[in-house]
Amino acid sequence: MSDSSSTEALLTILRALVARLSPGERLPSSRELISRHGVGPVTVSRAIALLAAEGAVVTRPGSGTYVAPRRVRPPAGGPDTSWQAVALAGREYDPAGEDGTAEQPADGAVAMAGGYLHESLRPTRALGAALARAARRPDAWHRAPTAGLAPLRAVFARTAGGSVGPEDVLVTGGGQGALSMLFRAVAAPGSPVLVESPTYPGALAAARAAGLRPVPVPMDQDGIRPDLLAEAFAMTGARLLYCQPTFHNPTGTVLAPERRGQVVDVARAAGAFLIEDDFARHLGHGRPVPRPLVADDRDGTVVHLTSLTKPASPSLRIGAVIARGPVMRRLRGMRLVDDFFIARPLQEAAVELLSNPAWDRHLRTLAVALRERSALLAGALALEAPEWTPARLPEGGLHLWVGLPPGQDDRAAAEAARAHGVAVDAGGRYFPAEAEGSYLRLGFAAAATPADLTEGARRLGDAARELGSVVRPG
Ligand SMILES: Cc1ncc(COP(=O)(O)O)c(C=O)c1O
Repeated sequence: MSDSSSTEALLTILRALVARLSPGERLPSSRELISRHGVGPVTVSRAIALLAAEGAVVTRPGSGTYVAPRRVRPPAGGPDTSWQAVALAGREYDPAGEDGTAEQPADGAVAMAGGYLHESLRPTRALGAALARAARRPDAWHRAPTAGLAPLRAVFARTAGGSVGPEDVLVTGGGQGALSMLFRAVAAPGSPVLVESPTYPGALAAARAAGLRPVPVPMDQDGIRPDLLAEAFAMTGARLLYCQPTFHNPTGTVLAPERRGQVVDVARAAGAFLIEDDFARHLGHGRPVPRPLVADDRDGTVVHLTSLTKPASPSLRIGAVIARGPVMRRLRGMRLVDDFFIARPLQEAAVELLSNPAWDRHLRTLAVALRERSALLAGALALEAPEWTPARLPEGGLHLWVGLPPGQDDRAAAEAARAHGVAVDAGGRYFPAEAEGSYLRLGFAAAATPADLTEGARRLGDAARELGSVVRPG
């Protein structure tokens, strides 16, 4: 037998044995371990390899496996690094960029925080097959071109549409990597960047890390307001707008058709770049998805970014920036400074995934699942927690954006939810400045099953009642 549980079981035994032995002592031979513990040779060699990787043992081919010299213990309480606080004082740091949702929810909690699909919604088999096909390519481990593999750039260009060509595409390490690059490439430290309010906290963190000052521009149910955008450009002199016209995170809003051209025109009139974060293009719930702004761009105003992590898997860290003109030269230069190119095996796997008919099938299935989950959660909330029910259903994305009753604090609400076994995101961190109201962001794609969402809504009802906001109906 050789599976991960038998390897884990043998590892536990061997760790205990290593702890009892002294450095330099020999472990029993593989043959002894096989007969003593009733496991197969593959399990033994895996367990020994893992112990060696931990630094607990050293293997000497032809001789055996020996307990490694013990690691020198750091002083009690860990090394004294307090000097670093002084050494780092000159470099600004925004801890708000740290993402608490990257942690696993507590055991038994319903996952409604975070922004990725549960594994049951991911194209896991197609991903595995794509990675296997990529690994078989003889050039899989060759250096990749700085701008990315040609077929991958072609797929991203085709998806964007309009006059976008492969030469306009730079492959990136997901959307976050693209954002971090763009903010550094496009604006000087200290300068303002206009952003929708609310917006994606990862974009705020990346902008601040680049030394930029996010300036909020209000949005309504039709997206960012072009009149106030023009005013904000005039007032701040900003040369950069970051926005999500399609399935905005956190609200799910789609920029209305009549505003799409207006927003680009306002940015153009200000001589500014418009970063179009199109991370959610493949997270629509079945209705037609509007063309990206970049498809109709005629002078390089729109710099577009997209990512495969959301519709595929958080670990398929492949995205793209589409840009024209000197800014693209700068971005390529930055790629060379940062990391030369994106790992080729992952790019090859992305090409394999996107060019397989299973990908389109996955997107169709995903749209249905997201629509059903969104409606299910909203319906369950209406029943169980009427005052924590979203004003409307999004047309795409992974979240409901729920306004809390007046006077209710978002962090207190998120804490109450956590105490009742539901992990949710408090809305405050989505606002670049003062929050207009109090919100929770409730994800319907991170939970294991639709039934978990019903249970989550029931627990949220308990949490809401505990906060004193809800009188249970009926
Ligand atoms: C609006 C938006 N843009 C970009 C990203 C970055 O995602 P990734 O780096 O996984 O592609 C996220 C992730 O949550 C997001 O919500």
